[in-house]
Amino acid sequence: TMDAGGGLRTPIVAVLGHVDHGKTSLLDKVRGSAVTSGEAGAITQHIGATAVPLETISDIAGRLVDPDDFDLPGLLFIDTPGHHSFSTLRSRGGALADIAVLVVDVNDGFQPQTLEAIDILKRTQTPFIVAANKIDTTPGWNPNPDTPVQQTLAEQSDRAEQRLNESLYEIIGELSDNGFSADMYWRVQNFRGNIGVVPVSAETGEGVPDLLAVLMGLSQRYMKEDMSIDTAGAGAGTVLEVKEERGFGTTLDVVLYDGSIRTDDTIVVGGKNDPIVTDVRALLQPRPLEEIRTEKRFEKVDEVTAAAGVKIAAPDLDEALAGAPVRVVRDRPEEEVVEEVRQELADISVDTAENGVVVKADTLGSLEAIANALEEAEIPIVRAEVGDVAPRDVAVASTAEEVTEEVILAFNVDVLPDARQEAGDRNIRLFEDDVIYQLIDEYEEFVDEIER
Ligand code: GTP
Ligand code: MG
Repeated sequence: TMDAGGGLRTPIVAVLGHVDHGKTSLLDKVRGSAVTSGEAGAITQHIGATAVPLETISDIAGRLVDPDDFDLPGLLFIDTPGHHSFSTLRSRGGALADIAVLVVDVNDGFQPQTLEAIDILKRTQTPFIVAANKIDTTPGWNPNPDTPVQQTLAEQSDRAEQRLNESLYEIIGELSDNGFSADMYWRVQNFRGNIGVVPVSAETGEGVPDLLAVLMGLSQRYMKEDMSIDTAGAGAGTVLEVKEERGFGTTLDVVLYDGSIRTDDTIVVGGKNDPIVTDVRALLQPRPLEEIRTEKRFEKVDEVTAAAGVKIAAPDLDEALAGAPVRVVRDRPEEEVVEEVRQELADISVDTAENGVVVKADTLGSLEAIANALEEAEIPIVRAEVGDVAPRDVAVASTAEEVTEEVILAFNVDVLPDARQEAGDRNIRLFEDDVIYQLIDEYEEFVDEIER
């Protein structure tokens, strides 16, 4: 089974894309197909993720995936809701995900969050493929549920095929404008240098066999060495979210990308000030086959092995940060692990200047991504923090000497009511957006206006 280890870790696949382009629907389709193919029990729901074992993938993909060709245990899919930046999914040394699926609606093409995802994929050098979704909405489409895409294409009218091709070539053109050479996946020889485009429908399941086959091929071919880990080793992971949970207090939603975590482990977690050292009280997973997003009841488990999503209940987690590292201590000296976490936090921390803008973001990963983008735009930062915009931030912004620095850039966070009030009183401009480059564009337009 997936948790048995055997040396090869489950590849982590992030599903990204613009709001409503069909990320969740695609995963629902994979889960649903597993149910109808009688493999329901084989799919496991994790916190923020879905694990699909090799046998189930091969069941859905039919002749496109022969399980004998692979020695990976399966795939762990992470859904990123549209309001959640992919940059949250960071880990030691870059991206948390091994590979990514960029979902693009064929009718809608590239949109702001598509471009943002592309930027981060490029920066983190994450291999990815494009799922050109909603092909069933092509006028005159003749649906062939759950079939491989070339098979269904052969059964379309010339006119429908031509309409779809126009949209697909537009997507290929957009990819090329963004510096990626791309083609239909069946024409791609080398997936390292070229992006494969897989036409799919999350509604009818057409192309889903191809999508799974390409993901398996990519993982197997390009990431095999990275996948071999000591599954019994002390776990390493990233905090996706810090959440209150009834009966458990503050908990962490974590993606474990290395080793294992057990209920008797001591862990070190990146916090607002110093690393937090605490003992695991419970490891929680959603009950089988219940939806994560509506999940209220959890199952306690004794051990979780990478790659997996898990909710960790432990004391003293209030100061934990989304995007921060989590490390299991186990048989190393505690102080060594604390130092490692402290070092990793220092690596992420943003260089601040004496003068500049105030930046607030939802996670360490997004803060890092914004800081990079601001540096490229040569915009200095005076204060960069994870968390909602608070009166303290307004106080800092109001000490600026330049009007162009009497500002706060808020990414994916709330502005507390008293902070908004105070910002109004003190004439501090608030820029709020959930797309990084749009946030920076808005700010640059403001600067242009002032300097004009
Ligand atoms: P966010 O999580 O909000 O970013 O959106 P998402 O990318 O997860 O999109 P979601 O799966 O929620 O789908 C958005 C809408 O598109 C829903 O109404 C889906 O039913 C519809 N949809 C998704 N995929 C398809 C498809 O292949 N065909 C058709 N016809 N509709 C689709
Ligand atoms: Mg969604």
